[in-house]
Amino acid sequence: MAGIGFFSPDMAIDLGTANTLVYVKGRGIILNEPSVVAYHVKDGRKTVLAVGEDAKLMLGRTPGSIEAIRPMREGVIADFEGAEEMIKHFIRKVYRRTAWPRPKIIVCVPHGATPVEKRAIRNSVMQAGARKAGLIAEPIAAAIGAGMPITEPTGNMVVDIGGGTTEVAVMSLGDIVYARSVRVGGDRMDEAIISYLRRQQNLLIGESTAERIKTSIGTARMPDNGRGATMQIRGRDLLNGVPKEVELSQAQVAEALSEPVQQICEAVMTALEATPPDLAADIVDRGVMLTGGGALLGDLDLALREQTGLAISVADESLNCVALGTGKALEYEKQLRHVIDYES
Ligand SMILES: Nc1ncnc2c1ncn2[C@@H]1O[C@H](COP(=O)(O)OP(=O)(O)OP(=O)(O)O)[C@@H](O)[C@H]1O
Ligand SMILES: [Mg+2]
Repeated sequence: MAGIGFFSPDMAIDLGTANTLVYVKGRGIILNEPSVVAYHVKDGRKTVLAVGEDAKLMLGRTPGSIEAIRPMREGVIADFEGAEEMIKHFIRKVYRRTAWPRPKIIVCVPHGATPVEKRAIRNSVMQAGARKAGLIAEPIAAAIGAGMPITEPTGNMVVDIGGGTTEVAVMSLGDIVYARSVRVGGDRMDEAIISYLRRQQNLLIGESTAERIKTSIGTARMPDNGRGATMQIRGRDLLNGVPKEVELSQAQVAEALSEPVQQICEAVMTALEATPPDLAADIVDRGVMLTGGGALLGDLDLALREQTGLAISVADESLNCVALGTGKALEYEKQLRHVIDYES
């Protein structure tokens, strides 16, 4: 990755449960790494060993002396020390010069974040070296990043399916009319695959294997031929403790994922019911936009269309929408000033 020369150092950060993205003003997204920190633990003292990509490789594979953690859970900071280390590390990675002007940084936060959680994120960013820290609501950032016309007087619905949460929001005239966050996202899908295999095949697999299954053959809908593609997976036989390999079909994965998928459908229906009638009519006309990594789950758009009757589209670059939208708020701050909060 190229370091920054004499460009404006201001940046936008999507501090996600699964991935952190950094957008630098005038440059675009220049960092995209898993939100993971690995520590070396000795005599009760922790020192940072690796952050991001390198740390993710260690998840689930650490000896007693190393601890790999994900500091963000369900969209908010669960481990302050870890989050701060991570932000600092990424900022330094972007600005490789030893002396850089302190940047203005905009970070997105879930719509439902409490004042305490917002203050915690702001403090972490200031501690990490920012001159000024602004916050933007995640659904607004997602919608801007997906190219939705959120400042118009029409209803727009965005569903951001991340690692920790799914946020459903209805916007009009540049602000949120309705938003709700459910604690169902990519992590919950991985857990559903793990528990399905444990129940149905007496097979124990780790989180990384579950995620690989989901991203390669995962689907939200029964395959038309009743079975779909298959994949060989390895885990540990729970009956005798030895390694075992089984074949897993898409139909089985669809069954494993049916509960989280159902919960996402319900969140969309609940949002539509709670939306004032004229705006709801706009959404029926214009459809719903999906963003976030979870939007890439196979046939999720089809499953949602079948269950809600709404037109569903998946945003281009769905994994980048929040970072791109936060970045756009930074680039067009004059026009989008009202969506950035520098106060609370
Ligand atoms: N092709 C795919 N199919 C299904 N899920 C996917 C795919 N690609 C990525 N994901 C999942 O998307 C999730 C990460 O999405 P994203 O980066 O939007 O989350 P995040 O912003 O870090 O989380 P949050 O918004 O909840 O804080 C992970 O759970 C990942 O496994
Ligand atoms: Mg996100």
